[in-house]
Amino acid sequence: MKALVLSGGKGTRLRPITHTSAKQLVPIANKPILFYGLEAIAESGIKEVGIVVGETALEIKNAVGNGQKWGLKITYIVQESPLGLAHAVKISENFLKNDEFVMYLGDNLLRDGISQFVQEFKKKKADAQILLAKVSNPAQFGVAELSKGKVVQLEEKPKKPKSNLALVGVYMFNSKIFKAIQHIKPSKREELEITDAIQYLIDQKYNVIPHIVNGWWKDTGKLEDLLEANRLVLDSCKQNILGSMDKESKIEGKVILEEGAKIINSIIRGPAIIGQNSSIKNSYVGPFTSIYHHSILDNSEIEHSIVLEYSMVQNIKRISDSLIGQNATVIQSPSKPSAYRIMIGDSSRIEIP
Ligand code: G1P
Repeated sequence: MKALVLSGGKGTRLRPITHTSAKQLVPIANKPILFYGLEAIAESGIKEVGIVVGETALEIKNAVGNGQKWGLKITYIVQESPLGLAHAVKISENFLKNDEFVMYLGDNLLRDGISQFVQEFKKKKADAQILLAKVSNPAQFGVAELSKGKVVQLEEKPKKPKSNLALVGVYMFNSKIFKAIQHIKPSKREELEITDAIQYLIDQKYNVIPHIVNGWWKDTGKLEDLLEANRLVLDSCKQNILGSMDKESKIEGKVILEEGAKIINSIIRGPAIIGQNSSIKNSYVGPFTSIYHHSILDNSEIEHSIVLEYSMVQNIKRISDSLIGQNATVIQSPSKPSAYRIMIGDSSRIEIP
């Protein structure tokens, strides 16, 4: 069995972060989202992985390399433009050949990994297996309608969802899916939808089995979901102090200080993680916060947020529910006139009390 990881797409819902980098590489608890997927694939025993890449190909290749780190053999497959999930499968036929495969959307996170589902799919010898999760906002996903435990209908982002069961971004297929993709047409958003291809399999009476996921699942395509995924992952981390702290500082709850992290006269209230060579001085870091490597927090307070690498926050009273990009600076300045002086990227968002 092989795996096909989708790591293209434009990430429009995460702009401006995705103007400059791949959404799959945003760190959750200081580890790129994509790495969680690759770990889950390796854990399930799969060795051969195809990664479909788009505009951010170079960045993904630099981060993942040849996959040795996870014991995986990685082949990169270039998707010239983001024409849909089914299109990504179509252009990967040479790599997938006649093998069964797991398709894993690179921005999805599943608490319990995928081993159990891979085993089930192999055992039941189905043509396709879909994973479903109960959500409060089904209109934002592909939605499944079940009857007596069988999938009756799938609909991509329906205006009036027939259930609260969303399609999780992890699917299992055999080679019948290629035939299905030949029969579908682009959707309203001009994409070849995998949801439509699976519907074709259902209509043609192929065996498509559903599995409802119990552990949490997150599609991290939006800021709120990223922050929630960060919260869920941090909550399950174990305390690990590799960095240093002075006598004036205090650590409460589960906290990870990575190598070279320095805490000076500050309070870190976990769950939280402070990355390599980052420094926290005269500050408060509250629960559910991840500070990535080489960043500085000085005389400021932050909670329920993610700060990326090489950034600086100085003299800021309180930051909450935020994502601060790479190399960003957020400072209070004494210079006159006392006004907000802002230089932000396209599609950015600032909320001021
Ligand atoms: C895609 C699928 C959708 C699925 C979702 C899961 O949506 O089209 O059916 O529920 O992934 O992450 P997209 O992220 O392309 O909007």
